[in-house]
This record gives sequence, structure tokens and C-alpha cells, in this order.
Amino acid sequence: MSPFQLTRILPEDATGAALRADVRTGLTGTPKTLPPKWFYDAHGSALFEKITELHEYYPTRAEREILHARADRIAAASGARTLVELGSGSSEKTGRLLDALPGLDSYVPVDVSASALEDAGRALAVERPGLTVHALIADFTRGLTLPPTPGPRLVAFLGGTVGNLLPTERASFLRSVRHLLEPGDMLLLGTDLVKAESELVAAYDDAAGVTAEFNKNVLAVINRELRADFDPQGFTHIARWNPDREWIEMRLRAQRAHTVHIQELGLDVEFAAGEEVRTEVSAKFREERVRVELSAAGFRPAHWWTDERGRFALSLSGV
Ligand code: SAH
Ligand code: TRP
Repeated sequence: MSPFQLTRILPEDATGAALRADVRTGLTGTPKTLPPKWFYDAHGSALFEKITELHEYYPTRAEREILHARADRIAAASGARTLVELGSGSSEKTGRLLDALPGLDSYVPVDVSASALEDAGRALAVERPGLTVHALIADFTRGLTLPPTPGPRLVAFLGGTVGNLLPTERASFLRSVRHLLEPGDMLLLGTDLVKAESELVAAYDDAAGVTAEFNKNVLAVINRELRADFDPQGFTHIARWNPDREWIEMRLRAQRAHTVHIQELGLDVEFAAGEEVRTEVSAKFREERVRVELSAAGFRPAHWWTDERGRFALSLSGV
């Protein structure tokens, strides 16, 4: 067994306090919104793993293809001794990078989902004796600090999760990651690319309904954590392409007019029949936009790789 340490950066109640604030702001605003990080309780993380295996959900397979083809180049360019991974989830695709980095000393997976970190950490401890795993339960949008592991560092942010941040959030997030890094460190960023609307919508509205269940899980999280009485089956899952923003919008549409009571907030929320709550965006990129945004945050984009069909990209940047 290798050393495995799990550190909670988020105070025990931070999740509760942030969830209360986010839900109050999101459900009292017009239009109603809910922020995406609340999808990932243990059930949500398990549902996401099922999404990654769906026939319609191509991003995971496309990104894995690129990682397999380019891991040696990434390893040679970075020479990393510490691999930090933001929103690491199951760390499933990361294995190829861990294999390729010859001098790797430490792996630092960062996620809001304690259950995902525990499962991934346990598996790594068995599979990779000698690797120090320092897992952090943390919100990567809120002033992250890293443990004092040896440099150079490679920060990986895979899965296209950067696209789940809104443009202003994304700009400040990229700047905050830049400030974590020192000369010689690098950022490996996974971005999903603009493509035909039908292919995009199918990836976020699969025939088996797994994504619909994932989307509705946020209501179950609010029911449990804030003692609310949402009926998840009273909402319809919607995935819609927004061609102006070039993002997929996930929504939940109330099937009938009703009122939801959120006990912990002392709040009644009224829904009109057909009213929609925006739960998530997933931005799709073009090479130029990725380069512009990285440069604006202070990175120096060095490599751009796509899968053979040009569906997904990995970029590697210096600082
Ligand atoms: N990297 C994996 C998982 C992507 S799903 C892959 O490519 O398959 C997105 C992951 O980011 C989830 O595990 C979720 O729990 C985590 N996440 C989402 N928002 C987060 C935040 N603000 N801070 C930390 N982790 C977050
Ligand atoms: N990072 C993933 C993506 O944007 C997250 C995701 C996949 C997701 N399917 C979803 C989020 C459905 C909400 C609903 O592809």
C-alpha cells in the first residue's frame, strides 16, 4: 500500500453554508438557476461514471484517446514530480499519465466529492505502491492552496469540466490556477469542441435517461441537505444547444404549477407550469478561444492535440 492522505480543505459546514446561499440566490432569481457542483454527492458521482460509459457521451472516450497517444509527449514536456488533478472524480483516465511520468513523486487529486476521492484513492494505493497520494476535498473555484510536494508540477483539468464554469467564473478560475504555479510548472486542459448540434444534444440527453437522472439528482441533494420537498419526477430534463454562447444548457422544466417548500431556508419557491431552472452549462470551444483565454490568464499555450475525429482537445501550457 502506498501513502494515502485525505485532507478536507472545505470546513465541514462550508458545503452546507455554500449550498444554502447558492440555492437561495439561484431559486429566488429570474430565471431560476442552480450551480452545478451540487450534482456530485455519492449518487451523483456514481451516475456521472455511468454517463462516461454511454454510447452517446463521446468526451470521455475522445479524451482518453488523446491521453493514450500523447502521454509520453506530455510527460517529456513537463517532467513533473507532482501531478495535481482538479475535479479528478474517479481518476480513471489519469492512469495513463501516471504511467508515463517517470519521476513522479506525488499525485494530488482535488474534488468536492469525498466519496469519489475515497474510492479513487483506495484503488490507487493498491495499484501504485510508491506513489504518495494526497487527496484534497476542496472547491477549486475558491482559493485553492496546494500541499508542499516537490516540483515541477503538472496541473491537469480534464473532462471538459472547465466548460461548466460561466465565462467570468472561468476567467477568474484560470487566473487563480496561474497564481498557484511557478516557472517550470504546466497546465494540461481538456476542452470539448464545437460540433454538430445533434451530436452535442445526444451526449447530454441519452436514450437510457442516465443524464436525466443525473440532472434531477440535484433536487434530491437539496431535499436531503435543506429538507425540501421537490418531486424530481415532476420535472423534465432538457438539454439545449445555445448557438450564440456555444454551450449546452441543462435545464429542469416543471411539468405543472406547484410550490416547493425548503425548510432549512424558510423559503417557498413557486414554479409556473413549464417554468425552467437552468442547472448547468457545458461550453464547447474552438482552438482560438482556448488560446485567447489561456493567454489572458497568463499562460503560454504550447501544444494543442485533438482526437482523430476532432471532437475534443487537450492543450498543454507553460507559465
Ligand atoms: N475528471 C473526471 C471527472 C469529471 S466530472 C473525468 O474527466 O471524467 C467533474 C468532476 O469535478 C466531478 O468529480 C465533480 O465532483 C468535480 N467538481 C465539480 N465542481 C467542482 C468544484 N467547484 N471544486 C472541486 N471539484 C468539483
Ligand atoms: N463536465 C461534464 C460535461 O460538461 C459534466 C456533465 C456531463 C454534466 N453530463 C452532464 C453535467 C449532464 C450536468 C448534466 O460534459
